[in-house]
Formats: sequence, structure tokens, C-alpha cells
Amino acid sequence: MDLNRVFTNNEHWIKEKLALNPDFFNKLGQGQNPELLFIGCSDSRVSAEELMGLGPGEVFVHRNIANMVISIDLNVMSVVNYAVEHLKVKHVVVCGHYSCGGVKAAMQSADLGILNPWLRNIRDVFRLHKNKLNAITDEEEKYDRLVELNVQEQCVNLIKTAAVQKASRERDLKVHGWVFDIHTGKLIDLKIDFNTILHNIMEIYHLD
Ligand code: CO
Repeated sequence: MDLNRVFTNNEHWIKEKLALNPDFFNKLGQGQNPELLFIGCSDSRVSAEELMGLGPGEVFVHRNIANMVISIDLNVMSVVNYAVEHLKVKHVVVCGHYSCGGVKAAMQSADLGILNPWLRNIRDVFRLHKNKLNAITDEEEKYDRLVELNVQEQCVNLIKTAAVQKASRERDLKVHGWVFDIHTGKLIDLKIDFNTILHNIMEIYHLD
């Protein structure tokens, strides 16, 4: 890739934005007030804003390998805390995607060095749902299902945090689990039943 292309593209983008709204960058410079926190995969095909049709200032984004919410990862936890407690987003989304390389790697036995402890968290999701997953005979279907269950468990991990518990109670913050289907471009709402999940886990994870 010729990186000069990026800067040429940027010049075009500025012109397009200013043609639509001469005040666009003045407004951006004044601050942000996004209503949505999007936690997605770093995969180059999961372009957060573009696939949602949103622009600068509309979504706070965090991406890592396989869209994980790990309680001792200072990076994702800082993003969640800042977005929920300071920006006061109204929705937090964990968005997985089919054909996720991170999820695939966690389904195979291979020593991937520094990636091992990261992927271990996905193996833990597999173990939690082992019976359901192993009952699926079609490998592709099992892979897709693990992508979905991983999203669900990362949503549960969000619900385990004090910031999300407090904001859910005080201002009705919503947590959503979505999957981006790379093969069709479709964004799918998994419609995770948080009332039941909350009821089941709060006995143990209630903090606030
Ligand atoms: Co991925």
C-alpha cells in the first residue's frame, strides 16, 4: 500500500465534510458526546463506524483481538470506565464477527506464545458452554456459535464491573451483544436476555 494514498484520501475527506457542513471541524474540536461505546475485534474487516453508518463524534471505540472484556486488562477497563462514568454513554455494545481469527485460534491446539493468555479467555468460554458446543457436529456452525457465545460472555464480563452495574441501576445503561457477518455485511443483534443473565450472576458478582 502506498501510504501517500492515505494523505490524499484525507484531503478529499476534509473537502467532502466541509462541502456538507462548513462548521464540521469546528464542532468536532469542541468536544465529544457519544451515546455508544463499541467494543469490537481488531480485525481489519470490522470497521466500526463505517459498518454502522456513523461518523466522527458518534461512537467511542475500543478494539482488541476477539473483542474481549477482561477484568485485568487495564486498556479495556479504562475505556469502559471512561465511557460509562465520564462520557455517560447510553449503550455499550460488544460486537463479535464470524470468521474471527482469535476465536478460531482458541479452538485449535497450538502454542501461540504471548497470545496464549489472551486466547485462554476464549477457551474458558468454550469450557463454560462445552456441552452445547460439542453437540454441534458441523464445524463451521460450532465456530459461529462460539463467536456468539464469546460475545455473550464478554457482555456478562461488562455486567460484572462496578461502573456498568451502577450506571444500569442509576440511568438505565444498556448492554448489547451483536455479531457482524463478514460474509453478508449484516449486523445481527443477538438479543441476549440480560434480565435472566443479571438475575443469575448478580448473586455472585454484585458490587454496587
Ligand atoms: Co476477530
